Amino acid sequence: MTTSENAPADAAAAKALHGIDLAGKAVVVTGAGMGLGAAVAKAAAACGASVVVNDIDRDLAQRCVDEIRAAGGEAVAHPADISVWAQAEGLIERCLDEFGGIDGLVNNAGLHLPKRSWEMDEASVRRTIDVNVVGTLACAGRAIKAMRAQGSGSIVNTTSGAQCGLDYRPDYGASKGAVSSFTFTAALELAGSGVRVNAMAPNVSTAMLDDMVEFMKERGPWTRPDLPPPEHNVGIHLYLLSDRSRHMSGQILGVRGDGELFIGSHPAILEPTARPDGYWTATAIADVIEAGRLAPMQPLGPTVHLRLATPDAA
Ligand SMILES: NC(=O)c1ccc[n+]([C@@H]2O[C@H](COP(=O)([O-])OP(=O)(O)OC[C@H]3O[C@@H](n4cnc5c(N)ncnc54)[C@H](O)[C@@H]3O)[C@@H](O)[C@H]2O)c1
Repeated sequence: MTTSENAPADAAAAKALHGIDLAGKAVVVTGAGMGLGAAVAKAAAACGASVVVNDIDRDLAQRCVDEIRAAGGEAVAHPADISVWAQAEGLIERCLDEFGGIDGLVNNAGLHLPKRSWEMDEASVRRTIDVNVVGTLACAGRAIKAMRAQGSGSIVNTTSGAQCGLDYRPDYGASKGAVSSFTFTAALELAGSGVRVNAMAPNVSTAMLDDMVEFMKERGPWTRPDLPPPEHNVGIHLYLLSDRSRHMSGQILGVRGDGELFIGSHPAILEPTARPDGYWTATAIADVIEAGRLAPMQPLGPTVHLRLATPDAA
């Protein structure tokens, strides 16, 4: 097992550390102006990939490209709002035009607007779903068309432990559950095509966590989780983009806050199930549940590591 206490932000060192060769691969990374996306774009370029750096913020995208080029890598900036279908398609087409194909897509761009489930408003919920779900599907949909024609490609979506249920993330958690479900469907449909679709679940200190800290200041005592820098999670993206993971599709590969690597479970029908005597009346359902003839009720929340301290309901 190769791990590092201090994963390097430096490009050349990243290649040496990860030992992954992405030479000849063209990769799109969305939301790569800062945070995890920027770390992924830099690491992928350091490992030899030609990278299309997307962000909704033009300056941030260009800054990431400048850093990649300064380190000897190849990258172009493509600012776009991935929640706008045509802009998402334009992003993938830029990669096809610029590099002659698309071998990898890291659907990283995401939005996190914390709130209680009784505090939701239409604009905030729609924006969260538009960026996290529509943006992910729009980029993936266009990339899949090109990858199917090529007979190869790897898509890395970004989900979250919040899909299991997490305080203050009603729409965000729902959006990440949708991303995971999409991952399972796309992987199923693309089985045998040479195109793989997986999701990763990160746990790193970024502006998203800073925003949560700001938000919680008004809510009561909350302890900021002690998370590592983004560079500590990019090994997952590099692995999933590389041929070393050619056997893997439809999986969620994640890291807990303490660094533990895990594969997340698919939603599944649990045994035992029960057969109806005719059809299910409400009373018959109550009877089989009370008799313990169905699988037990399932736990909520991703992990104790991620579970937030909950102040009194606001
Ligand atoms: N940080 C974590 O521990 C954590 C945990 C679980 C999931 N995630 C997910 O990981 C991904 C990256 O998160 P991060 O922590 O680096 O966040 P971040 O807020 O630091 O960075 C997100 C980036 O996405 C860009 N972006 C936002 N909307 C966009 C749009 N419509 N089009 C293009 N770019 C857009 C932002 O400008 C920003 O550069 C997100 O999908 C997030 O939901 C992060």
